[in-house]
Amino acid sequence: MKVIVVKNYEELSQMAADLVAQEMQAKDEIVLGLATGSTPEGMYSILVKMYQEGKLDFSKVKSFNLDDYLGLEEDNDQSYRYFMNKHLFSKVNIKRENTFVPPAMTKDPEKSGLEYDQKILEAGGIDLQILGIGINGHIGFNEPGPAFVGPTHKIDLSEETIKANSRFFEKIEDVPKQAITMGMKSILNARKIILIANGQSKADAIYKTIKGPISPEVPSSILQLHQNLTIIIDEEAAKKLE
Ligand code: GLP
Repeated sequence: MKVIVVKNYEELSQMAADLVAQEMQAKDEIVLGLATGSTPEGMYSILVKMYQEGKLDFSKVKSFNLDDYLGLEEDNDQSYRYFMNKHLFSKVNIKRENTFVPPAMTKDPEKSGLEYDQKILEAGGIDLQILGIGINGHIGFNEPGPAFVGPTHKIDLSEETIKANSRFFEKIEDVPKQAITMGMKSILNARKIILIANGQSKADAIYKTIKGPISPEVPSSILQLHQNLTIIIDEEAAKKLE
């Protein structure tokens, strides 16, 4: 595991974007695992800028997103498909049919989850997975619980996550209670993982991710087992590591 501490959010976004760009330039048919949330927004805007400057080509890129809220239509501005269209897909030359997000409107999450994992395998697996992290150590929407879950699956969101994510909604009651998320199998199968986090609210989760015991109560702690993990954090998120 490589831990890189940078000064602030701007540096974090730049470094993450540079690493993604490097991987894309080395392999044009790359399969990217993508994350939503406020943390990767800066990284996406730099990647868009690099594309506009002619430094990046998304025409052969495939992408698989980590998760989405169950029951939100694509055109709902809180759905993660909407987020991805807004921040990346509509601004670069990625082909819409090469972008995958777990199906938020599925009536059978178990079946759809297995199909999603199968699609990832058929694409050759994820080359580079981007991860954010929740304040409770969730990755994707893998919430703390009694066991790690392998396949893409349905999850009941924790009170903590509903509260944290309510900042994007008009009122807390509007936050969906369930989501569909890639499980640990597809995440850990990624050939390379970059986890990004900034701000003091993430310091505890980052400490437990890096130094804590591997436990499903802190889902991100399982990343300690990954062979090619880079964690990029700002000074605030690194506070508890000293
Ligand atoms: C959400 C997403 C995660 C994300 C996390 C942190 O719940 N499902 O993939 O990493 O929140 O979000 P933020 O980057 O806004 O702090």
